Amino acid sequence: MVEQIHNTVPRPDAGTSAQVHPAASAVPALRAEQLGKRVPLPGGELVILEGVDVRIGRGESVAVVGPSGSGKSTLLSLLAGLDSPSSGRVEIDGAPLSTLDEDGRARVRAAKVGFVFQNLQLLPSLTALENVMLPLELRGDADAAGPARAIQDRVGLGGRLGHYPRQLSGGEQQRVAVARAFVTGPSLLFADEPTGNLDTATGQAVIELLFALNQDAGTTLVLVTHDELLARRCRRTLRIEGGRLVADTGASG
Ligand SMILES: Nc1ncnc2c1ncn2[C@@H]1O[C@H](COP(=O)(O)OP(=O)(O)OP(=O)(O)O)[C@@H](O)[C@H]1O
Ligand SMILES: [Mg+2]
Repeated sequence: MVEQIHNTVPRPDAGTSAQVHPAASAVPALRAEQLGKRVPLPGGELVILEGVDVRIGRGESVAVVGPSGSGKSTLLSLLAGLDSPSSGRVEIDGAPLSTLDEDGRARVRAAKVGFVFQNLQLLPSLTALENVMLPLELRGDADAAGPARAIQDRVGLGGRLGHYPRQLSGGEQQRVAVARAFVTGPSLLFADEPTGNLDTATGQAVIELLFALNQDAGTTLVLVTHDELLARRCRRTLRIEGGRLVADTGASG
């Protein structure tokens, strides 16, 4: 039985203005309905994820936890529109991703979504600065270098802009990946084990960074983590086991 606590109580100011449609404020930042992922294998179909229902409000911080192989990274990819579900649907700001083709999903991602991958996926032939400039260049921004430098200063990498990923420490590479995810000013930030493989102090610095950026910009955070410290910093926890959502605690709406 999934324990779900949704905030159905309107905010104090809701409904006081006739101009505000009651449904408008109820559109969640992210919504998944009956989300499932299956892959065909020689021995039969493998069910990776099944029947996941979740609504995540704007500015929420959500930890996705569960055993290795339970489907957390798969869920994150589906929620971010990086992969298509076998069943069910995902909406970002009320817009269903399933009605869009790959180009359409790419446009939504470019406008709204930041993603820190479990294996970082920095491009080895680009410098730290160029890696962070890339999402801005891809969406056609005239000035990519300015904002990329600013965010790298913010994550403490100002002195490493010309370094290639192989010339950076693990923690520095992680911070480049975080900077690249944040540089477009996404309203939704997904991070898959952002403190994985980092020592406690460096991991703590990355956590502080994520939440500082989150608070400054009101970004909705969805983080996969095995890190207790990081999970506790999030207001809400989703637990995935065997491809199913088995607990949803601390939801604020
Ligand atoms: N494309 C695929 N083809 C076949 N199996 C897959 C595919 N993608 C994922 N899986 C399997 O689905 C399961 C869930 O994978 P996923 O990467 O989502 O797990 P996870 O919860 O993120 O694990 P971890 O904590 O180790 O990162 C795993 O057993 C994995 O082997
Ligand atoms: Mg994973």
